[in-house]
Amino acid sequence: MPCFNMWTPLLIVLGTLSACFGSDSSSGVVITSITPNQLQRTTARTLDLAIENLPELPGQLLCAFTIGETTVTTEAIKQTNGVKCATPPTKDIPSIPVGQHNITAKLSVRSSNGPDFVTTKFMFFDCNTYSSCTQCVSSDFPCDWCVDGHRCTHDTAENCRNDILITGVSRVGPSFRSGPAFCPTIRGTDIGSQEILVPSGVKKAVKVKVHIVGQFIVQTRFVCLFNIEGRFTKVNAQLLGDVIYCDPMEFTYNSSVSNINASLAVIWGGSKPLDNPDNVHVNIYKCRDLANNCGLCLALPEKYGCGWCESSKRCEIFEQCDKGLGAWLKRDHTCPI
Ligand SMILES: *[C@@H]1O[C@H](CO)[C@@H](O)[C@H](O)[C@H]1NC(C)=O
Ligand SMILES: *[C@@H]1O[C@H](CO)[C@@H](O)[C@H](O)[C@H]1NC(C)=O
Ligand SMILES: *[C@@H]1O[C@H](CO)[C@@H](O)[C@H](O)[C@H]1NC(C)=O
Repeated sequence: MPCFNMWTPLLIVLGTLSACFGSDSSSGVVITSITPNQLQRTTARTLDLAIENLPELPGQLLCAFTIGETTVTTEAIKQTNGVKCATPPTKDIPSIPVGQHNITAKLSVRSSNGPDFVTTKFMFFDCNTYSSCTQCVSSDFPCDWCVDGHRCTHDTAENCRNDILITGVSRVGPSFRSGPAFCPTIRGTDIGSQEILVPSGVKKAVKVKVHIVGQFIVQTRFVCLFNIEGRFTKVNAQLLGDVIYCDPMEFTYNSSVSNINASLAVIWGGSKPLDNPDNVHVNIYKCRDLANNCGLCLALPEKYGCGWCESSKRCEIFEQCDKGLGAWLKRDHTCPI
């Protein structure tokens, strides 16, 4: 607690002058707890502030919430171990910057015509800022995910009626489904990899393992959405068991690099993507840019399926070497001299 000169008359009245010049320059006024200690930004509540050594002050007490440059005060009412005061009207709490989930206000208690005599921090969070189930239910804040509503909320009774609920890890109390392990997600390929390899220019049916809760998801239409060099391509998909089979499509890219990553989304119910927490993606490659001579080509990892096409004198997959008719050397062969 800093001591300002303007305080001095007040401090003498309070008899805390000595404390002010004490080694830690503390006046001894401390907020020991706030209940609730954080709040959903779009709601308003009365806070109970437990304050030690709250001085006897004449006149009205105020709670002052300062966020950025703006201060909003609300009336504070003295009670046995401190004060209670309302949080600011929600319209006065700025929205949370994109990509963040909370804002911190400086919270001071002051007399209406005096300086702050004790200050602390108070956090406003916003469950609505989480757009995926995994992020929502892993949050430090008490947020839950409504599966069909595809939204994160602080108030499931209000916003999640008749829906399947996944409770956040910060919620206390019993729960049927708690934490990100219950979120509808893309899990990886059938061999447990995060990368699906596809040669450029080849038609391929991509499949991924998924984890899904809720019969209503199973019954919806699925779509696979790929982003290749900023172009989006959408194909229908089927769910069989725990595998999503995307319809075949050609994966092609133009830039002269040996490989690119294309993002993958599996969308259900028209617009709701499954979470993809491990970033399962498609890697599209060109054998001929991975290796420009036979020796390098035959030394490429087997997973690419590249080989040396003798007619084109290029590193290619079998199907692309004279449309599968050319002389094609694979890994265990020897390069011609
Ligand atoms: C609140 O937001 C800040 C800034 O984004 C972040 O560093 C901090 O971890 C957040 N606090 C919690 C409890 O999530
Ligand atoms: C790639 O090249 C093909 C053929 O030249 C062209 O039709 C297509 O629009 C190009 N795609 C991009 C993203 O540039
Ligand atoms: C593709 O993604 C993987 C995994 O995130 C990364 O290791 C690799 O470098 C990426 N490749 C390209 C060409 O960006």
